[in-house]
Amino acid sequence: MTAYESRVRNSALRNRVSSAEEAAAMIRDGMTVGMSGFTRAGEAKAVPLALAERARAEPLKITLLTGASLGNDLDKTLAEARVLARRMPFQADPGLRRAINAGEVMFIDQHLSETVEMLRTDQLPPVDIAVVEAVAITESGGIVPTTSVGNSASFAILAQKVIVEINLSQPAALEGLHDIYIPTHRPTRLPIPVVTPESRVGMPFIPVPPEKIAAIVITEKKDSTSTIHDPDDGTRQIAGHLNEFLLGEVRKGRLGQSLQPLQAGIGTIANAVMHGFLDSPFHDLKMYSEVLQDSTFDLFDAGKLNFASGSSLTLSENRYHRVLERLGDYKHKLILRPQEISNHPEVVRRLGIIAINTALEFDIYGNVNSTHVAGTRMMNGIGGSGDFARNSYLSIFVTKSLAKGGDVSSVVPMVSHVDHSEHDVDILVTEVGLADLRGLAPRERAHTIISNCVHNSYRDGLLEYYRRAELRGGHTPHILEEALSWHVEMEKTGRMPGRKPETIPA
Ligand code: COA
Repeated sequence: MTAYESRVRNSALRNRVSSAEEAAAMIRDGMTVGMSGFTRAGEAKAVPLALAERARAEPLKITLLTGASLGNDLDKTLAEARVLARRMPFQADPGLRRAINAGEVMFIDQHLSETVEMLRTDQLPPVDIAVVEAVAITESGGIVPTTSVGNSASFAILAQKVIVEINLSQPAALEGLHDIYIPTHRPTRLPIPVVTPESRVGMPFIPVPPEKIAAIVITEKKDSTSTIHDPDDGTRQIAGHLNEFLLGEVRKGRLGQSLQPLQAGIGTIANAVMHGFLDSPFHDLKMYSEVLQDSTFDLFDAGKLNFASGSSLTLSENRYHRVLERLGDYKHKLILRPQEISNHPEVVRRLGIIAINTALEFDIYGNVNSTHVAGTRMMNGIGGSGDFARNSYLSIFVTKSLAKGGDVSSVVPMVSHVDHSEHDVDILVTEVGLADLRGLAPRERAHTIISNCVHNSYRDGLLEYYRRAELRGGHTPHILEEALSWHVEMEKTGRMPGRKPETIPA
């Protein structure tokens, strides 16, 4: 058997190999296309490029659904080629971000566990074509995904046609890593049988009838690596406060030394906070998360982490090669699941997850904005943070207390957009300190947050706002005509107004 034959094991499908251009020609103007790809991992790579090329020559607009963000600059390329009429449920690309914020692309920012549930129940237009990257097609026509599962399984099952990109650069050893479970139909739906992060409850491939596979495209392009930065003093301090807090919970008998399954959000800060567990006394940790970043493998290598369940592997350049080369060493400790299962509220609540996600800003009552700068400009999207925050055992949000070189406070009188309301937030952490909001009323929350989390240069400004608001009364005191004045000023001058004058550089 040649390498290619071992990747396309259903011999009847081998005559469906076609070029990316031929496959992309199946996608017509106005279609809804579901593509693989989750946080720069496992996206279809050749067909979207061919699609962008075609759109330069002929009018072509599609609705593009994925798991999450795409790598290899595909979101940028598709946005520049003006292929995207609508895009959901997540992105993280500066080029696409620009097009979204200019109103050129209609972006639907959605909880990541919900997209395929809505497709399955016809609440969204049906997927015409699915394009899925795979390491192999099994004898029965099953599609074996690569470094992410995301929404690929349901896209392939629900679409009328499936294009499979067999990526020869993705190691064959990825086969066996995935656990594809699709919830049964209502009203007779059964509980999802995931009872520990290690639970294997589905199949190692996406089951589709072979006749639905309309084209197979062979590629060799690698995943993009992640762009996160290394931990710095600020993120190390955030991790330190969190470790101290969790240790306190262990001392009080509320948690054991192995804590409870951990979820960590995307980006530099969440990765750095997970990294902080390396310096903690905790051991035999487990993750039930969606994106597995470098920190997962650092914790494995340090013997701190026993198991990690996620929906994608998103790694830095260095880590990507080392992990894929040594996949055999990690495989028994890893599962990749569909994102509706990795993020499923039922499972998150059952497992008692400790959820650690990142805020752009939060307010003095604990409402969190993770997505919109100044309440208007989309950054990335809510991703899975809401799936986890609402349903977790402990909902933790982390951020640095300052942004934009100190001109912006990440703690504000009122958030300019609410992704996670105060009801979904237990713990807030900045490099300044940690606010434990459990069991606190809004006025108590305000005192705790201002004392513990705000940078010294903005603390007096926030306290002054709160004191004047308190005089007006109310359960959650505010001065409505001023509540967003910090953002208004930031938009005008680039600086928030509550800063101590002596901390402003000359
Ligand atoms: N106001 C304006 N901009 C802010 C800001 C604020 N209060 N706080 C941060 N930013 C900007 C930073 O300046 C930076 O901008 P730049 O890229 O132009 O330098 C950008 O936001 C990212 O911030 P950074 O400090 O590098 O943090 P990060 O890489 O950890 O990302 C989020 C932080 C919030 C953007 C990211 O975690 C996110 O998109 N979260 C929402 C989705 C999510 O939580 N998913 C979790 C499950 S997947």
